[in-house]
Amino acid sequence: MSLIKVEDIAFVRFRAPDLSEMAGFLEDFGLVPQLVDGVLYARGAGAAPFLHVTEEGEASFAGVGLRAASVADLEKLAKAEDAEVRRLDAPGGGQVIRLTDPDGHVVEVVAGQAAAPERALPARPPWNSAAGRPRQRQTKRTGMGAAHVVRLGHCVLNVSNFRASERWWKDRFGFITSDEIALSPEFSVGAFLRCDRGDTPTDHHTLFLVQSPKGPGFNHAAFEVADLDDLMAGHDRLKAAGRKAEWGVGRHILGSQVFDYWRDPWGHILEHWTDGDLFTAADGSNTATLQDLMAVQWGPLAPPTMA
Ligand SMILES: [Fe+2]
Repeated sequence: MSLIKVEDIAFVRFRAPDLSEMAGFLEDFGLVPQLVDGVLYARGAGAAPFLHVTEEGEASFAGVGLRAASVADLEKLAKAEDAEVRRLDAPGGGQVIRLTDPDGHVVEVVAGQAAAPERALPARPPWNSAAGRPRQRQTKRTGMGAAHVVRLGHCVLNVSNFRASERWWKDRFGFITSDEIALSPEFSVGAFLRCDRGDTPTDHHTLFLVQSPKGPGFNHAAFEVADLDDLMAGHDRLKAAGRKAEWGVGRHILGSQVFDYWRDPWGHILEHWTDGDLFTAADGSNTATLQDLMAVQWGPLAPPTMA
């Protein structure tokens, strides 16, 4: 039994030496950046007040935010962890408790944030396929420009000891294994973890912990965009802006999502994705292979930098 059950990932936090350079990249990526009291907050089209935060400083990953169901849940964590619930001084307000995982990754658990007004997504007529042609006597014009990032979907952290980290994250936040990556019957290198939302379907993974030879640290963060056309238009925009492509466009096996990975100006990897799997708590857990993890259903193979 875990201390609490988190509802979703909330944000990722970075430091960078040049906030206007970061803002330019985030606009190309399809987020809406805003400078508040010297901190850059970027939001998407969904209700979260922000999804990506950058403080001025030496370029680094500075933590991941999770969304708890209530401030009462933060109090539960505070009691168990001998930590303090504080005011979250950021757009949308709310409360936060800051913890560190076994590798020293900062984990901010938040609750009580005010919802931001949602922005409209591009209206699309239906998709015609050979099996069904619901769009008739109507054109499709998808438009160009940056993707419409809607929400943050998951974060991947490299850890030094998968089992120790798995225990820490599951005991506190109630994560359920979707797919565990087993190199042999005795040794697993990581796992895709989803939130326990009971009967409410939730993303195949909100967190992926993977024991990496690179040592602990940030691997990537992944943002859901409006749809496939949006992802492809967003790809063109990032390419035209001279941004650094990492891997994509393709379709993953585990999680099934269409993916497109890019690097920010300091090399942090951010992913666009769409059409991912959703599971409930009752859907259980599976074991998968390294091949399942790194291979694709279609699209280019992973570059060595993603391994
Ligand atoms: Fe991902």
